[in-house]
Amino acid sequence: MKIINVAGARPNFMKIAPVIEALKRYPDRFSHLLVHTGQHYDDKMSRVFFEDLGLPKPDIDLEVGSSSHAEQTARIMMAFEKVCIAERPDLVIVVGDVNSTMACTITAKKLGIKVAHVEAGLRSRDMTMPEEINRLCTDVLCDYLFTTDRVANENLLKEGVPEDKIHFVGNVMIDTLTKHKAKAKNLKLQQNLGLKKKNYATLTLHRPSNVDDKGTLLGILEALQEISNKLPIVFPIHPRTKKMVDEFGLAHFFNSVNPVNGLWVTEPLGYLEFLHLNMDARMILTDSGGLQEESTVLGVPCITLRDNTERPITCTQGTNELVGNDKERIIDAANRVLLGDVATGRVPEKWDGKTADRIIRILM
Ligand code: UD1
Repeated sequence: MKIINVAGARPNFMKIAPVIEALKRYPDRFSHLLVHTGQHYDDKMSRVFFEDLGLPKPDIDLEVGSSSHAEQTARIMMAFEKVCIAERPDLVIVVGDVNSTMACTITAKKLGIKVAHVEAGLRSRDMTMPEEINRLCTDVLCDYLFTTDRVANENLLKEGVPEDKIHFVGNVMIDTLTKHKAKAKNLKLQQNLGLKKKNYATLTLHRPSNVDDKGTLLGILEALQEISNKLPIVFPIHPRTKKMVDEFGLAHFFNSVNPVNGLWVTEPLGYLEFLHLNMDARMILTDSGGLQEESTVLGVPCITLRDNTERPITCTQGTNELVGNDKERIIDAANRVLLGDVATGRVPEKWDGKTADRIIRILM
C-alpha cells in the first residue's frame, strides 16, 4: 500500500510522527512519503519539531506559506493535486484540523484516492473557529475516521457517518508524549532559567478570537499580568500573537529579560523544551487544542481561555477548565489553582502510547 502522509502546521508534526514510525515497522506492507505543505515554515514553528521528534525530512515540500484562508487552502490544493497525480498513492493520511488537513483531503478525494483522518470527530460546535470548518469538511469526506475518544464516535454517528468507517483508537499525540517524556525530563532548561518546580506557569495564546481584537487581548494581558505578580508565567509567543501585540502597542506587558519575573516572553520553543517546562508547571494557561490533552496526561491543571472545546473529555475526565477570555474569570481560576483547588483527573481510555500501532493494524 502506497501512502502519502501530510503535515503542514506545528500541531501536525507530533501527530504524524508516531504514524510514520509505525508504518516503518512494516516495510514489506507499506511504502510512504511525507508531504509538508509549508503552512508553517519558520524554523521554530517547523524544523525544530522535525529534529526533536526524529521525523524524516519531508520528501516533498509544497512551500505554500501564509496568506488568507482561501488563498492558503487553494495553494495547498493546487500543489497537492500535482503530487497526487504524480505519485498515485492508495491512501492519504491527514491529521488534526488545520487548513492543510482539509485542503489535502478535498484534493485527494476528488482524484478518487482514499483518505484517513487521524483525530476525527472532534467538535466545538463553534463555526467561528476555522478549525471547526476544517474538521467538518474533512470528516464528511474521509474513508477511515480514527478517533481519540467515544464522544467523537458519537459525534460522527449523529452526523450520519457509517459506523464501519469509525475506529476509536486513542490519541497519537500521547504516543509522542509518552515516547519523549523521559528525554524531555532530563533537559536542564527549567533549572538553567532559574525557575523552580511547580512554581511557574506556562502560557500559549494564538487563537484569532483571543489575539486579533485589541480590547480582548488587552483584557487577557491584564489578567495575566495580575497572575504573574504571584507566579511567573513563561510565554513562548506564537508569530500571529507577536504580530498583533506589536500592532496594538501592547509589548510593555512583557518582560523579555528575566524568566523568574512577571510575564516572561520567549521565542516559540521546541517540542522537548516546552514539554519539559509543562511537566513541572504549577498550571498551564492556553487556548490551544493539544495542550488541553497534554496537560490532562501530565496531571497539570489547565486553564483554557476559550468558551468551548472540541476536546470535552479533558474537562470531564482530565484537569482542564474552560474560562473564556473574561479578565476576572481568568484571574479567579488561577487563584483557585494557587489555593490548591485542582481537579486531579485521570488519563482517558486508550491514551496509552499505542495508538499509531492500532491505526496501522486497522489499515493492514
Ligand atoms: C494554525 C492553525 C491552528 C493551529 C495553529 C498552531 C489553521 C486554520 N490554523 O494557526 O489551528 O492551532 O496553526 O500554530 O490552519 N506565521 C509565521 N511563521 C510561520 C507560520 C505562521 O510567522 O511559520 C505567522 C504569519 O504571520 C501568519 C500567521 O502566523 O499569517 C498565522 O499563521 P497560519 O498558519 O495562517 O495560522 P495559525 O494562527 O498559525
